[in-house]
Amino acid sequence: MRMTDNTILITGGTSGIGRALAEAFHDRGNRVIVAGRRHDLLTDITDRRPGIVGMHLDLNDPQALERTARDVRQRFPDLNVLIANTGISRVEDMTSADWDGTTAENIVQTNVLGVLRVVAAFLPTLKTQPTAAIMATSSALAFLPRADFPTYCASKAFLHSWLTSLRHQLRNLPIEILELSPPYVQTELTGASQAADPRAMPLATYVSEVMAMLEHGRHPRGELLLERDQARRWAERDGNYDSLFAAMNPV
Ligand SMILES: NC(=O)c1ccc[n+]([C@@H]2O[C@H](COP(=O)([O-])OP(=O)(O)OC[C@H]3O[C@@H](n4cnc5c(N)ncnc54)[C@H](OP(=O)(O)O)[C@@H]3O)[C@@H](O)[C@H]2O)c1
Repeated sequence: MRMTDNTILITGGTSGIGRALAEAFHDRGNRVIVAGRRHDLLTDITDRRPGIVGMHLDLNDPQALERTARDVRQRFPDLNVLIANTGISRVEDMTSADWDGTTAENIVQTNVLGVLRVVAAFLPTLKTQPTAAIMATSSALAFLPRADFPTYCASKAFLHSWLTSLRHQLRNLPIEILELSPPYVQTELTGASQAADPRAMPLATYVSEVMAMLEHGRHPRGELLLERDQARRWAERDGNYDSLFAAMNPV
């Protein structure tokens, strides 16, 4: 995708990967709008990077999305890039007597329906642009699940499949469909400890790698995946699925 002079909306732009992408794109000369629920973080990002626009948005509220879409259409009719990055991640123990599917439903609501709704809301605008892109954030876990995050991994597998079909359907339009599949990165996705976990990739390192992949078009089939995650991506094809699954999910 073009790396400068875009108008970019990033959902899930208040923290972590979304915020780091927002700052990187802003610093490269793009108009950036970030959306999320936390008012204090929206204010913080717009204070620290004057020019970035913050919009309050809870993707679990379809009316809020309608309002935001209307607002964006009026104020930013040249919107040509959507980064659908919102996501939540929770451990689920289905052996527990407490497990009742509520957490699973919340994850589906945000990670699946949230992304579908946001793409549906902005696709009509993107279709009017001479060049456009949609990037949605799945996960390296889309290809091989961690069993303690069952619905999270399944939600990302859903996105992988859905984006593949979206890309195929839009193949004759100038809208690039990209899938960002991060590894384990230092953000607060699963709580504060993840941001300091030495096993996770530093956020700044990951986002500069993503910007380099985008800049050099290093995303075969529209997939932005680190080299080290290719084995998971192709585990079925290469006959390694069972052994990699076992290594990731020790009994
Ligand atoms: N970090 C990793 O290890 C990793 C690995 C693979 C994939 N990912 C994916 O990367 C994406 C970003 O995650 P992150 O790691 O950067 O964690 P994060 O800092 O927790 O970011 C999640 C973002 O989603 C927003 N969000 C959550 N629920 C929302 C809702 N209902 N409506 C609107 N916004 C909502 C949050 O903003 P508010 O709370 O302000 O609404 C926040 O900006 C997610 O899709 C995640 O699944 C992360």
